[in-house]
Amino acid sequence: MNSTPSKHAVGQYSTTTANLSARMAIHEFRTNPQDWFSWLADRLPLREDVLEVGAGTGRLWSEVGHDGLRLTLTDFSATMCEELRRVPGAEVRQCDAADLPFADSSFDSLIANHMLYHLDDPAAALREFTRVLRPGGRFAAAVNGRDHLEELRAIGPEIGRPELLRGLILNDVVAETAADLVSEYFTDVVVERYPSNLEVPTPEPILAYLGSLTDEPLSPAAESAARDLIETKIDADGNYPVRTHTVLITATRR
Ligand SMILES: C[S@@+](CC[C@H](N)C(=O)[O-])C[C@H]1O[C@@H](n2cnc3c(N)ncnc32)[C@H](O)[C@@H]1O
Repeated sequence: MNSTPSKHAVGQYSTTTANLSARMAIHEFRTNPQDWFSWLADRLPLREDVLEVGAGTGRLWSEVGHDGLRLTLTDFSATMCEELRRVPGAEVRQCDAADLPFADSSFDSLIANHMLYHLDDPAAALREFTRVLRPGGRFAAAVNGRDHLEELRAIGPEIGRPELLRGLILNDVVAETAADLVSEYFTDVVVERYPSNLEVPTPEPILAYLGSLTDEPLSPAAESAARDLIETKIDADGNYPVRTHTVLITATRR
């Protein structure tokens, strides 16, 4: 049952929140006036004992009121857990998603927001989620489609770094497949897409996003090639358009 975080997750998250923050920052340029966390807050099935796995910096809880809930936040990363301790009233545990330090049937709701696609063994995590949820407990997961951020993915090959965005989805848990996988463990599976794209007005947020994905910084030549490519598009269209494809999957523990 024990599983370790993926090599990619360790490189990205174990000692810094900066990579996650740079990637979240680009979503400021969304076309939907309602941001992702607020949209999610309107839909999360929250009841009494709530667990979030892979909770990152805990950004969700600045949007979602949790008065009256008993909130437990987990992440494998000590650095993320340090941030999570700022969330008022939350209990924080550092642990792997597939090896949760909780008794069977401990929670009424479990959230896995933008984290399933980082796991080497997502099925092991889903089994663990059903173990710690009570029968009838509610599960919510957010994942991305294969075409999510397609126009950012297109930059890597153009600047000699084709591997750059590959780490964004490490397994097959994508919008196109995740509902089938979740159905193997849960019932009443419902999928809803968050409607938004990005229109980025300057190169900087895109360059910061690309830089956040790699331990091997962009060379000056690669960065200059990326900047030229982005500026050409902005000069022609007024912004650099990027499609997004994110879904919320909700389900019930049998
Ligand atoms: C893209 S971030 C999302 C963070 C947060 N859920 C949010 O939406 O802002 C993915 C998070 O999952 C965590 N993570 C990755 N693999 C994990 C694992 N095996 N067990 C627990 N947490 C993990 C990372 O440390 C990171 O905080």
